Amino acid sequence: MSLPLYFGWFLLSPVQNKVRCTSMDFLKTLDTLEAFKKYLTDFTGKPEKEVDLEQYFQAKGPLHCTTKFCNYGKAEGAKEYAENPAVKEFYSSVFELSLSALFVTPRTVGARVSLTEEQLLLWPADAETEVEPATSLPLGSRAHVTLGCAEGVEPVQTGLDLLQILALQQEGQQPETVEEMELGSLTYYGEGRWWLKLREPICSPACFSSFYG
Ligand code: A2P
Repeated sequence: MSLPLYFGWFLLSPVQNKVRCTSMDFLKTLDTLEAFKKYLTDFTGKPEKEVDLEQYFQAKGPLHCTTKFCNYGKAEGAKEYAENPAVKEFYSSVFELSLSALFVTPRTVGARVSLTEEQLLLWPADAETEVEPATSLPLGSRAHVTLGCAEGVEPVQTGLDLLQILALQQEGQQPETVEEMELGSLTYYGEGRWWLKLREPICSPACFSSFYG
């Protein structure tokens, strides 16, 4: 059996454009906010330097939500995942993903995906890697779409950034800044971590499939 680089849900074309536009609008607005400028050094390292977030992050490849990174069979559990009856049954089926939040850190920009019970059948049990602060997060917490990475940052970082923000939320850390935006409420979790809970989650049709590269 030839195993892919990864399995995941691939957003269908029209919704890819919608998500990209929403993300661009968010980045365009975020870097003009006084609240963001106050913490600009998180991104620039220097107080007076400006940042254009649309240029700061680069996107590559089709928009997708990785379920299992297989690395052509070299990743642990890859074969077992491919043999899971749910994976075989749902392969090439279209699902409705719910993108419920956008998040930005100095490394990545992404969208959180809130999975349904049925979608969780395709979620591997070992995806929720330990992050700081250490806490146990529910299955599916790492589900996301990478929308862009800063120079030199690999996409795998997006899921780790998401887990870290969720761990801070679960710990009860009070966000430092809350601002109401047209898209939803924006909160700041320190160290350049911004979280926008969307007023209206984006409903994204996506095909469960795999990528060979
Ligand atoms: P993500 O799912 O956050 O976008 P690459 O291009 O670096 O080979 O990665 C291909 C895809 O697999 C990307 O979508 C990436 O991250 C995801 N990915 C890469 N490495 C891992 C990993 N170790 N664990 C989980 N997902 C990974």
